[in-house]
Amino acid sequence: MSDPRAIYLKDYQVPTYQIEQTELRFDLSSEATRVRARLCVQRDDTTSVSEPLVLDGEALTLISVAIDGRPLDAAEYDADEHSLTLHAVPDRFWLETEVEIAPASNTALEGLYQSNGMFCTQCEPEGFRRITFYPDRPDVMSRFTTTVIGDRTTLPVLLSNGNPIDQCVIDDARHYVTWEDPHPKPAYLFALVAGNLEKREDHFTTASGRDVLLQLWVETQNLNKTEFAMNALKRSMRWDEERFGREYDLDRFMIVAVDDFNMGAMENKGLNIFNSSAVLANPETTVDMMFQRIEGIVAHEYFHNWSGNRVTCRDWFQLALKEGFTVFRDQLFSSDVNSAPVKRIEDVALLRTAQFAEDSGPTAHPVRPDHFIEITNFYTLTVYEKGAEVVRMLRNLLGWEQFRQGSDLYFDRFDGQAVRVEDFIDCMAEVSGQDLTRFMLWYAQAGTPEVTATSAYDADARCLTLSLSQRTPPTPGQTEKEPLQIPVAMGLVGADGKDLPLIMNGESLGTSTVLVMTDAEHRFVFENLDAAPVPSLLRGFSAPVKLHHALSDEQLAFLMRHDSDGFNRWDAGQQLALSELERLMAAWHADEPLVVGDRLIDTMRALITEPADDKAVLAEMLRLPSEAFIAEQQAEVHIDAIHHARRAATRALGEALYDEFAALYDRERSDAPYSPHFEQIAQRSLKNVALGYLCATGRPDALALAQAQFDDNANMTDVRAALTQLAHADDTALGEPAVRAFGERWAHDPLVMDQWFATQVSRPQPDALERVRFLMGHEAFSIKNPNRVRALIGTFVNQNLVNFHREDGQGYRLLADVVIELNRLNPDIAARMVLPLTRFRRLDPVRRAAMRGELERIRGESLSRSVFEVVEKALA
Ligand code: PHE
Ligand code: ZN
Repeated sequence: MSDPRAIYLKDYQVPTYQIEQTELRFDLSSEATRVRARLCVQRDDTTSVSEPLVLDGEALTLISVAIDGRPLDAAEYDADEHSLTLHAVPDRFWLETEVEIAPASNTALEGLYQSNGMFCTQCEPEGFRRITFYPDRPDVMSRFTTTVIGDRTTLPVLLSNGNPIDQCVIDDARHYVTWEDPHPKPAYLFALVAGNLEKREDHFTTASGRDVLLQLWVETQNLNKTEFAMNALKRSMRWDEERFGREYDLDRFMIVAVDDFNMGAMENKGLNIFNSSAVLANPETTVDMMFQRIEGIVAHEYFHNWSGNRVTCRDWFQLALKEGFTVFRDQLFSSDVNSAPVKRIEDVALLRTAQFAEDSGPTAHPVRPDHFIEITNFYTLTVYEKGAEVVRMLRNLLGWEQFRQGSDLYFDRFDGQAVRVEDFIDCMAEVSGQDLTRFMLWYAQAGTPEVTATSAYDADARCLTLSLSQRTPPTPGQTEKEPLQIPVAMGLVGADGKDLPLIMNGESLGTSTVLVMTDAEHRFVFENLDAAPVPSLLRGFSAPVKLHHALSDEQLAFLMRHDSDGFNRWDAGQQLALSELERLMAAWHADEPLVVGDRLIDTMRALITEPADDKAVLAEMLRLPSEAFIAEQQAEVHIDAIHHARRAATRALGEALYDEFAALYDRERSDAPYSPHFEQIAQRSLKNVALGYLCATGRPDALALAQAQFDDNANMTDVRAALTQLAHADDTALGEPAVRAFGERWAHDPLVMDQWFATQVSRPQPDALERVRFLMGHEAFSIKNPNRVRALIGTFVNQNLVNFHREDGQGYRLLADVVIELNRLNPDIAARMVLPLTRFRRLDPVRRAAMRGELERIRGESLSRSVFEVVEKALA
């Protein structure tokens, strides 16, 4: 690919032609699908009559073009690799085109493709242009009618958006169904599915009493994995009515599960298409964490019906308008129906490891990027997760009531329109009367702001002065940063562990408040304090920043026990563990023995033995910070030091608290029939954390416990936890047979085989890389399936850091080999997979050079635009 051009937000221009009506006819066949499009085209008032009509199109074989029934000859239009241009068109006319496409050879999984013989589409962001010539941009909205023609025996089910209005048998071989979607929509929300599918059906009655038919379509063997998602859908529909006042707007809502899918799922109007891993679940095959993920994704896609579909984006730079808001909505849903503090802990853990890493690396970009080469590279943690944090900050600044009013105003005012981030923020400003001009910088400035807090207590004046300062480090293309508007939720904890009344300028603020920073530096004075309290800052992680607040280990231990904010209790524990791990890392560098201090052991003992009010939080508190999180805290990253320090700490805790963990394990065992309810999940999570510490000692009785749990075969959560302990043990005597048995038992189920791959390649021992190479030849693996690639390669490079970062560079070489192959097959996945290779800045010179070397090898290939963009940024 030679020098692909960047596209800029500042160059946005309104569409010159609108499409009032879109009538599609698909005649499906694997090698040669015919697509006929009849478009009612209308020139925009502001467009000059001489302006040509330019339609997007990629990889289409053009068969014919006609205007108002008159066929055009080749001299009347220009067709090139990316577009079809018509000169001198009427003000309003019917354009008819026919093209041919080849779904079976579409390995990029964009546009119309095949997965296990079934036809399906993925159009967001720019896949529709691979189906037919069209103005493929979200600000062109049209009413769609779609006729799907297919083979009666192999494709008995033919689906598209909206309602079926006609269907008929054509001849012995073929039949058709016509679908009509009454809501105008951009082309990226179009969907078509055809296959030999079966359904689970249900009904939902909306708040205003309308009946909605719910269907979940799957391949026959997966019918027994549909109950959970169907119930999650109904919970989501009810929740959106109750929390956001949003009702569903069609007579039917369909979900389809497909095995080959680049992302988690897609919110096509009335016909959501899901990666099968994001919807199929049952207790025998699926772990607790996946049940919760599925619930969140089902909700997310459903919530898009308003935040994304009814009100959509003007252009792809506004992606966070729909994604940030919708992620915030799904987070709120999950925290309402599960343990709220644990949901927050998990989301923040993801943000602080993966998103912070993105924000400090070569691909850092603002929540609303201002330019891109390939938009598919911008479906990132920054747009989604940081985008959600930005919306959450609005909630923190406005309070729920006003935030909800702003949301109502936004849906009401912009219903049926394609809008910008500013339109959303303006609604929030309008209902609250707040000036959100500075807040907009969150959308424009990349990088993670760093907030430094110091406090000084004045015993004579009986007051505490809290000083807060902020600074955002430079990121590629943005050297100067301005101060942001940052809500800092906080409280002051007194010696008795209770929150103290907050009094500022004589005014009482209750026991918890939100301080708002708008400048580089602030001072807040709290009055009427008899003794120095411990400040608890950034409660609930009220802003996506790095907080530097120098607390002693004593103070951290105190907050960990007493903070009224569950999130901050957990966070204090993580900081405490981190400071111990940093001591161990220093010892590792100095070649000294790694001895774990008593404080960590004693605090852990107290946690285990004292009664817990929230088991889910307790399980999280017993986990040491992940390797990725520790790495994110270091100025210079030494993977081996991190790994060995963490392993030593885990083992030492297991040894020192063996009896306590064994008792905990016993206490949390249960014979109750499996349920994915959060209280049961918390119990299993606690039990399996204990099992992990026990097995870290390598003691035979601990491994026997794991073996018994594996053999017991109660549910996949427990089986997998046990298998992991067996397969990750130094001694392979138990692990090898368990891995073999599991592989044989589940050979028929690809989603379970993904777990089998992931468990094996996350093994910390040095044979992991050879295991990856070996498993790439396994019959259950296919480089063409994104789930397989993520399970085998993705797990290895992202979760087995010591082995990916082997000093001999073999881990990097393996990833580069995979990326080079994927670049030809599936550029989106290739561009995602290559990211770990770009994070070399803070590594040692040997590894840095090896990673750059592999990136340069990749650059030597003929690259897709997506891989090109990432590799160029990394090597810049
Ligand atoms: N819009 C989808 C979602 O967030 C994600 C997606 C993007 C899926 C691009 C496929 C392709 O819900
Ligand atoms: Zn989304």
